[in-house]
Amino acid sequence: MTDALDTVLVVDFGAQYAQLIARRVREARVYSEIVPHSITAAEITARASEGRPVRGIVFSGGPASVHVEGAPSIDPAVHELGIPILGICYGAQLLARDLGGEVARTGRGEYGRTELTVDASAHHGGSTLFTAAQPRTQPVWMSHFDTITVPPTGAVVVASTSDTPAAAYEDRAAGRYGVQFHPEVVHTPHGQEVLEHFLYDACGLAPTWTMTSIIDTQIELIRAQVGSARAICGLSGGVDSAVAAALVHRAIGSQLTCVFVDTGLMRQGEGEQVVETFQRHQGIELIHVRAEDRFFERLAGITEPEAKRKAIGELFIRVFEDASGGLEDAEFLVQGTLYPDVIESGTKDAAKIKSHHNVGGLPDDMQFALVEPLRALFKDEVRRVGTELGLPDEIVWRQPFPGPGLGVRIIGEVTPEKVAMLQQADAIVREEVKAAGLEREIWQAFAVLPDIRSVGVMGDERTYGHPIIIRAVTSEDAMTADWARLPYDLLERMSSRIINEVAGINRVAYDITSKPPGTIEWE
Ligand code: XMP
Repeated sequence: MTDALDTVLVVDFGAQYAQLIARRVREARVYSEIVPHSITAAEITARASEGRPVRGIVFSGGPASVHVEGAPSIDPAVHELGIPILGICYGAQLLARDLGGEVARTGRGEYGRTELTVDASAHHGGSTLFTAAQPRTQPVWMSHFDTITVPPTGAVVVASTSDTPAAAYEDRAAGRYGVQFHPEVVHTPHGQEVLEHFLYDACGLAPTWTMTSIIDTQIELIRAQVGSARAICGLSGGVDSAVAAALVHRAIGSQLTCVFVDTGLMRQGEGEQVVETFQRHQGIELIHVRAEDRFFERLAGITEPEAKRKAIGELFIRVFEDASGGLEDAEFLVQGTLYPDVIESGTKDAAKIKSHHNVGGLPDDMQFALVEPLRALFKDEVRRVGTELGLPDEIVWRQPFPGPGLGVRIIGEVTPEKVAMLQQADAIVREEVKAAGLEREIWQAFAVLPDIRSVGVMGDERTYGHPIIIRAVTSEDAMTADWARLPYDLLERMSSRIINEVAGINRVAYDITSKPPGTIEWE
């Protein structure tokens, strides 16, 4: 039995800030989860019996006004659970409204950077959130229209701004805290300290949620779930499936078999790297299916992007099924599902979510129970777990790569010759970005091979070759992206190396389209 996992719930009142708050709590080494505001007091209490006792609650900000009918609210019994609560922005207003305080439309909202002054006596020991170690006057980030004019009954105001007299309040005896500003954003430089005071001092939590504790807990959970059964895992070379496989292998050793389907559409050296890392280095039993020929045969003559994606996806599933056919005793399938996927699939606003055919995904008609050891983690946490498990930087810091691989970066028909050309050009782009030290700043940098040719001259000879398009973007989440302002000398090095080293290429262009209107990939 694993130890209970002390949990802080971040109640989402519709702000884009809820994820950020959850991450900040985790950065303080305390486990946090995002929950909808429809959660009831009974559901919160029940978590203790699931081994995840709730030790603190944060109410997030939100775009609504507490005065508007139908504005998001919370089960009033939550206030009476005896669990410390920190309300942020809308959350602080909601606490005030529900607990005897007042929120007014004063017409004096605050937006952006504001000076906050901590009350003198609060600064000298009268406050939990603010201590003498922080400056009495500090910049904070504000974004509110309504204003708290009276804090909840029993609470005292501990900080104010010129427009907001109750910018922070505390009822230490009842464990209720409110801040009108956003402690979770970088524009509030002392915000993390405020959050940590809430976690450590108000909730009595300790910073024990470390990478080692995550790994140890997951190992126990995986062992309990899988028992002595067999599990399989489809490896794509990407960070999520790689970390999931390494973690499950740590837990159940040779009961895990990985299947790696080499479609021939991977980047240069990737297939060998997967085999090297997992089979030789991690000692994982690996079925390496070399299916390049089948993929090239299937793709012959297909030029339409969706038809290409569909063909690749379908064949992948067939090959995966064939390869795992000898493993019919496997009851479990390991998947690298991450917390953002879980949050997204839990929201009703599904129309916004991009649907990608994810090669390496679950074949529809295969019957397995899922093992998803990364379900509670954000991407940066998965990377840290990967490093802790001994995976190399090339895998842990790998840029996103589409399931259909280079197939969607070759415009027109996919042939082995074009794949070889693109692999070389793509390797040069990535090598140069890495050498320039920009690898972790750039979301993705890659090469595209369009289906056109142009005239050039090399030596004394006329050439009629293909161009390569370089695509490099910055992004937070791939939903929007901007083209990366790469230095000219870096672009020049890429261009001259590609033209000199890759036979058949005589021109290089740089894609300066943002998303929207473009997508990151060309197909
Ligand atoms: P787009 O081209 O839609 O891509 O702007 C957004 C992000 O998703 C990646 N991508 C894929 N990932 N399977 C995946 O797992 C796919 O089929 C796929 N297509 C695009 C793309 O590389 C970018 O990071």
